[in-house]
Amino acid sequence: MSITINKARRINQLPPYLFAEIDRRKREALARGVDLIDLGIGDPDIPTPAPIVETLIESASKPVNHRYPNSSGLAEFRQAVADWYQKRFNVKLDPAKEVVSLIGSKEGIGNMAVAFVDPGDVVLVASPCYPVYHIGTAFNGGENYFVPLRKENHFLPDLDSIPAEVAKRAKLLWINYPNNPTAAVADQGFFRRVIDFANRNNVIVCHDAAYTEMGFDGYRPASFLEVEGAKEVAIEFHSLSKTFNMTGWRIGMAVGNPKLVEGLAQAKSNLDSGIFQAIQEAGIEALKLGDKIVEPARKIYQERRDILVDGLRAVGLECEKPRATFYVWVAAPKGISSAEFTAKLLEEAGVVTTPGNGFGASGEGYVRFTVCVDKSKLKEVAERIRQVPF
Ligand SMILES: Cc1ncc(COP(=O)(O)O)c(C=O)c1O
Repeated sequence: MSITINKARRINQLPPYLFAEIDRRKREALARGVDLIDLGIGDPDIPTPAPIVETLIESASKPVNHRYPNSSGLAEFRQAVADWYQKRFNVKLDPAKEVVSLIGSKEGIGNMAVAFVDPGDVVLVASPCYPVYHIGTAFNGGENYFVPLRKENHFLPDLDSIPAEVAKRAKLLWINYPNNPTAAVADQGFFRRVIDFANRNNVIVCHDAAYTEMGFDGYRPASFLEVEGAKEVAIEFHSLSKTFNMTGWRIGMAVGNPKLVEGLAQAKSNLDSGIFQAIQEAGIEALKLGDKIVEPARKIYQERRDILVDGLRAVGLECEKPRATFYVWVAAPKGISSAEFTAKLLEEAGVVTTPGNGFGASGEGYVRFTVCVDKSKLKEVAERIRQVPF
């Protein structure tokens, strides 16, 4: 006897996983013994700074931390988030009502739709993008409307291009600056236009700020909440992952409008039981140290960015020098698709990248490189690509 096992429609209706083909080719190349340079993943290769690890070790031995945490986060962690926002962005937050801890920002981004998207609701998603924005919508029966990010608009969504009837039906808008995958940045003028759009159309703004600490050449990206009127319409997602080289630890936060924070916290409290308190104590240490530990990583990424961008340009590839993030968004040579370019880079140069269309249809024509490998490897990338005829 066996039962029939069917996955839920929401799983069966997931879009095809465009990275599967590149994953398969990568495995095959590794099995053949190819010495791959992997610029596919956005995961810091630099270890978590020692004071953070030491705090975890000490905190992990305290029995008080062995019990269930509160799903919204320790009061001390939320206070540390508020203090960091005040110091870094000059944004005032009430830690009790305007901050919630997240088990990594991915969790909060997904649960935002659980809290706020009903079947049939429209969610506006600036795309190409981190896929969880639209997967959250789809899992909860909402409808995604993708607003393309195009080079001619500096990879900012053209909000005027959204048909009035779509804008009126929209419940949420997802934006992300500094941006993954395009590495574009936004200024406060753009944020003001977003707030105006949100007020005119009664739309909740969700800003994913995962990369604000990774700005180069002295550039310090803004929080959406720095702009007047933002807290009336917005929630901002942040993460300790990229900022403090803590991707494996799973800790982040959402901050902003108290009703939005409360709604998200309510969804979470029904689904999860928060972050291991010892990790939150390590997170407090990270936030307290702030720039002292971020600056050395920034310098490393900036130097790597220069090596990669200069190398790619020297072999005739077209890309901007990013002002932030550890991504470089490279145009595929004329006449070649994202998938073909990625495959060629892997097969003929042993360089792993991510095809732009994996982040959404408007990413077609681009490939994303990361700088999460040592500079000696990055120097080799251009040399390897030089050997490949395009
Ligand atoms: C734009 C963006 N947002 C959110 C995340 C999720 O980060 P985490 O869940 O580690 O906080 C990522 C991870 O790659 C990302 O690129």
